[in-house]
Amino acid sequence: MLDLMTEKVQDESRQGEAYAAFANDPNQYKKRFYIESYGCQMNFADSEVVASILHKEGYGATPNLEEADLVFINTCSIREKAEQTVRKRLTEFRKLKKKKKGMLVGVLGCMAERLKSKFLEEEKLVDIVVGPDAYRSLPGLVEEAEGGQKAVNVLLSRDETYADISPVRLDSNGVSAFVSIMRGCNNMCSFCVVPFTRGRERSRDAASIINECRDLFENGYKEVTLLGQNVDSYYFVDELNDRVVTFAKLMEEVAQISPLLRVRFSTSHPKDITDDVLYTMAKYENICNYIHLPVQSGSSRILQLMNRTYTREWYMAKVDRIRQIIPDCGISSDIITGFCTEEEKDHRDTISIMEYSRYDFSYMFFYSERPGTLAQRRYKDDIPEEVKKRRLQEIVEIQNKLSQESNKKDIGKTFTVLIEGDSKKNDKEWKGRNSQNKVIVFPKENYSLKNGDYVQVKVLDCTQATLLGKIINPEI
Ligand code: 5AD
Ligand code: SF4
Repeated sequence: MLDLMTEKVQDESRQGEAYAAFANDPNQYKKRFYIESYGCQMNFADSEVVASILHKEGYGATPNLEEADLVFINTCSIREKAEQTVRKRLTEFRKLKKKKKGMLVGVLGCMAERLKSKFLEEEKLVDIVVGPDAYRSLPGLVEEAEGGQKAVNVLLSRDETYADISPVRLDSNGVSAFVSIMRGCNNMCSFCVVPFTRGRERSRDAASIINECRDLFENGYKEVTLLGQNVDSYYFVDELNDRVVTFAKLMEEVAQISPLLRVRFSTSHPKDITDDVLYTMAKYENICNYIHLPVQSGSSRILQLMNRTYTREWYMAKVDRIRQIIPDCGISSDIITGFCTEEEKDHRDTISIMEYSRYDFSYMFFYSERPGTLAQRRYKDDIPEEVKKRRLQEIVEIQNKLSQESNKKDIGKTFTVLIEGDSKKNDKEWKGRNSQNKVIVFPKENYSLKNGDYVQVKVLDCTQATLLGKIINPEI
């Protein structure tokens, strides 16, 4: 139960979404593909790159698994549970494959990279295995698989950023889009498998990012989220214009596309977010006042074992700095309980740093040992599962209290909200978010508004997860 509750926050909220927002003419395409994505936003963005590559080869997307000639699953390795979910899904594909001759199944993403050709031995009915840097080779691999061979490419690259590929927007609300600005991670947090599955960090050509964002805006999009494992270490040497582009500069140039285009970003490593970034956020109204700043633990001793390269005090000073430069900034976090050697005292330090930082929201997990990581090689996974889960339960409760307090403080305030669609429960209500990334639900009343419109909403009430409001000015 607990496990479900917390994992849901990150893994299951956007899990297994299948897409097909284009290609409705069945005769136009030689074959149909279906793609399901798990895990982080980066994976969802990658699936859009994959769709673009397949689209160029004449494959059309379908939301119906049964109709697909090619079935892809874009996978996540971050915790054991994420991998188990994928394996379960693969058993379902296996049944379908037995019924449907000629259907090919491909595994993409982090699990493909981690398990490589072992995947083909373990999951006999998988035909194609492709790592995150090898998507350009997909058409060739599909051909090989069609010829009856098992097709694998898990080569990691030092320079692949898919800069020139315009992602095909899948399952889009036409309002917000993710734009990948870099790939890989050099940080080597000791618990994390990402540096092994996604390789070295590299930044995408700045001009291609700005062009993609401009295109999105010209096509009606109103919000871009710049994505990377560690966006603050974005660094691009623009030889053409003889300049260096930092993350602050990149964000500024995206913000200058139009004041009507909201800019968000994720994820920030506390060690890398600079004053320059904070001042740029403060300077531009359309750069949203929200930072996802994973703390992982509140204990300096554990942070050192995690190789996070900051202490508790240093993190707290960073939170102070954010609030000093951007007083109304929303802050969220990722937290792991039960990391190797964690004592009750360390756990209490985590609780107190949460209270100090007053997170609006957190993604919380218990530690899951991943093969090949520094922690797996160096430390014993010595905290019993019941203890990990009990501590997790405690921090979930603390976060619930903090979220509720933070939302209550917003009652009576008015925010500019970008409308994203109907609320989940009621099509007479809109759902949108304010700059701080909080979801606001409010009645449509008789105003003629649509997705992608900005509107002023006054907060009248709240739940722990949502603000409830009323339109006070439909014209902005
Ligand atoms: N166990 C539990 N949580 C993990 N994360 C990363 N690796 C692990 C692991 N081995 C969490 C971190 C990270 C988020 C994306 O997932 O909190 O910030
Ligand atoms: Fe993993 Fe740390 Fe890199 Fe995030 S910053 S992807 S937690 S190694």
